[in-house]
Amino acid sequence: MATVGVVLLLLVLTRFLAAADVFCDNLKTVLVTLPNNTSSSPVRFATAAFGQAPDIVYAFALCRGDIVGVVFNESYCRECVRNMTDKVLNAAPREQCYKDTYHDYGDRCILVYSRDDIIAPPSGENGGDDTPAERWNDKNVTGDVDDVRLITSLTRELLVQTVEKAASAAPRRFATGIMDSGTTFPMVRSLAQCRPDASTVDCLACLRRLLGVVNATMSLRMGAQINAIRCYFRYEAYRFYGGEATLRLTPPPAPSLAPTPAKRRSMSKLWAIPIVILLLAAAAFLCFIFCSRRITRKRRGKAGEEQLVWQGKNSEFSMFEFEQVLVATNNFSEENKLGQCGFGTVYKGQLPEGSEIALKRLAPHSGQGFTEFKNEVQLIAKLKHKNLLLGS
Ligand SMILES: *[C@@H]1O[C@H](CO)[C@@H](O)[C@H](O)[C@H]1NC(C)=O
Ligand SMILES: *[C@@H]1O[C@H](CO)[C@@H](O)[C@H](O)[C@H]1NC(C)=O
Ligand SMILES: *[C@@H]1O[C@H](CO)[C@@H](O)[C@H](O)[C@H]1NC(C)=O
Ligand SMILES: *[C@@H]1O[C@H](CO)[C@@H](O)[C@H](O)[C@H]1NC(C)=O
Ligand SMILES: *[C@@H]1O[C@H](CO)[C@@H](O)[C@H](O)[C@H]1NC(C)=O
Ligand SMILES: *[C@@H]1O[C@H](CO)[C@@H](O)[C@H](O)[C@H]1NC(C)=O
Repeated sequence: MATVGVVLLLLVLTRFLAAADVFCDNLKTVLVTLPNNTSSSPVRFATAAFGQAPDIVYAFALCRGDIVGVVFNESYCRECVRNMTDKVLNAAPREQCYKDTYHDYGDRCILVYSRDDIIAPPSGENGGDDTPAERWNDKNVTGDVDDVRLITSLTRELLVQTVEKAASAAPRRFATGIMDSGTTFPMVRSLAQCRPDASTVDCLACLRRLLGVVNATMSLRMGAQINAIRCYFRYEAYRFYGGEATLRLTPPPAPSLAPTPAKRRSMSKLWAIPIVILLLAAAAFLCFIFCSRRITRKRRGKAGEEQLVWQGKNSEFSMFEFEQVLVATNNFSEENKLGQCGFGTVYKGQLPEGSEIALKRLAPHSGQGFTEFKNEVQLIAKLKHKNLLLGS
C-alpha cells in the first residue's frame, strides 16, 4: 500500500517537473533571441513565441523610444535586454520560470513573458486589462498652495498631451514632453510609449487607463512610472530621457489666474457673451416695435375698429365686391370647394389678374357663427398677411 503511494507521488512529481522543464526550455529558447532581435529592430521591439499549450511561451522586449542616440545606441538596447533575460535565466532554479506572467519594467527597457498570448492585440476596449505596476517618487511637489495647484494641473495637462502625442506617433508610439510652470519648481519632463504593434486607438486607450491611476492624492508626487503590458508613461522633475522633447508646455501669460484646463476652456467661451447680448437686444427691439404698433393701433381703433375693418377703410387690405368673389369662385361651385371648417366652407378661387385665392364663406344658417366669423376676420386682419383676403 505504502509503495503504491510513493510510486504515485513520484509519478505526479516527475510529470510536474517534466511539464515545468518544457516550459522552462521553451522560455530559454525564446529569451536568447530577444536581445539581438530587439536591438536590431528599427523600433527597438521584438516578440517571440515558442512551444505548444500548455507550455507555450509568449514574450517580448522593448527598449525606450529615445534609445537611438550616440550614448543610448543599439548596443545599449541589446545590453539592457540581455541584462533582463540573464536575470531570468540565471535565477536560482526555484525562482526560474515560476510565474504565468512575468514582467521586468525597467527604466530603459522592459521584458514580459507569459503563457497567455500577450503578443495578440488586447481584447477589451481599454488597451488591455492587466493591473498597472506603479512606481512613485516618495516626495511631494513643494511650494505655496497656488504654485502646487498650478504645477499639478500643468503636469496633468502635460501627461494628457504626451499620451495623445505618443498614440498618434506611428510607428514607434513614443513621445516626450517638458513643462515649465514658471515657478521656482524645476521643469517637469514626461515620456509615454506604447508597444509599436499597438494601433492608435489601443495605444490611447491603454495610456488613458494608466492616467486614471494618477488620482488627486498621487498627483502631488514629484514623479512616477506607471506600466501596463502594452504601454507605460513616466514623469519626473529632472532630465531622464535623451534627445529633444517632442512637445513643450508653458503656463498661460497670467499666472495669477492659476488657470486649470477647465478654467481656460470656459474662458475660451467668453466670445459667446457679446453674441448673446446682441441677440437679446435685437429681440427686445423687435418686441418694442411690435408692442408699440399694437398699442397705437389699439388706441387709434378701440371703438371704430370693427367698422374700419368692415368698411374697408383699412388701406392695408384689398377689398372686393361680392360679384368679384362670385366670378373668382365660379359662383361658389362644388368643384371649387376645398373643405368645410368650423362655421363656414372654404373655396378655391382665381382673381381676374390670375392669382389663386382661398376663400371662406360663412354658413348661411349659422346664427351663432356670425360673431365668431367676425372675430376670425378681425384676427386675420390683425395678422396682416398679403395672402389673406377678407369678404362676407
Ligand atoms: C547578437 O549580436 C551580436 C552582435 O552582432 C553577436 O555577437 C551575437 O552572436 C548575437 N547573438 C545571437 C544569439 O544571435
Ligand atoms: C529573431 O531571432 C531569430 C533567431 O536568432 C531569427 O530566426 C529571427 O529571424 C529573428 N527575427 C527578427 C525579426 O529579426
Ligand atoms: C554605442 O555606444 C557605446 C557606448 O555607450 C559605444 O562604445 C559603441 O561604440 C556605440 N555603438 C555604436 C554602433 O554606435
Ligand atoms: C547590465 O548589467 C551590468 C552588470 O550589472 C551593468 O554594469 C550594466 O550597466 C547594465 N547595462 C544596462 C544597459 O543596463
Ligand atoms: C504627500 O502628500 C500627501 C497628501 O497630502 C500626504 O499624505 C503625504 O504624507 C505627503 N508625503 C510627503 C513625503 O510629504
Ligand atoms: C489614489 O491612488 C492611491 C494609489 O493607487 C490609492 O492608494 C488611494 O487610495 C487613491 N486615493 C483616492 C482618493 O482614490
